[in-house]
Amino acid sequence: MEPRLRATCEDDFEAFYVIEQKAFPHPWPMDAFTDFLLPWSWTLLYNDQIVGYIFYHGVEDEMVIINFAVDPQYHGRGWGEFLLKESLQIMHDNGVSRFFLDVRPSNQAARGLYEKYGFTSIAIRKNYYDHPEEDAIVMGKIYT
Ligand SMILES: CC(C)(COP(=O)(O)OP(=O)(O)OC[C@H]1O[C@@H](n2cnc3c(N)ncnc32)[C@H](O)[C@@H]1OP(=O)(O)O)[C@@H](O)C(=O)NCCC(=O)NCCS
Repeated sequence: MEPRLRATCEDDFEAFYVIEQKAFPHPWPMDAFTDFLLPWSWTLLYNDQIVGYIFYHGVEDEMVIINFAVDPQYHGRGWGEFLLKESLQIMHDNGVSRFFLDVRPSNQAARGLYEKYGFTSIAIRKNYYDHPEEDAIVMGKIYT
């Protein structure tokens, strides 16, 4: 059985919220999911169970990855890579050519994954994160 992704629907938010609490030191509150107007976001399923998600936000040919997580109990199986790769491809097929994101310098797993998919560091936002306080690395990927 392989994981698969589909477009997110509102019924997914409760499962996202549970994963979010486990995946991040400073997680999104529930209303960050419910207030969202379902932009470009994708739900990762394994055996019909929700195991991850990725949210993009932007306009025209430029998108920012604003949230991305795999349930920690399934880390290291290639599923984050699958979700990133497949969603980037869908977005690119829909005309998006520039992607950006913020990541904690201490987040080796995410940085490793983004670098594997051609994202490079382009700026630092000083003291961007709380809990714990940390700079953000701004990474970008531009299709030519
Ligand atoms: C980032 C995240 C989505 C990766 O998901 P994952 O399913 O565990 O990752 P994968 O198994 O698909 O790994 C793919 C690649 O990511 C990188 N990677 C994954 N875990 C890593 C680790 N612990 N250290 C360094 N690189 C790592 C590697 O490049 C790996 O490729 P490789 O197996 O060829 O070395 C996951 O760690 C996560 O949900 N983290 C918490 C939330 C988060 O930090 N989101 C990103 C916010 S910017």
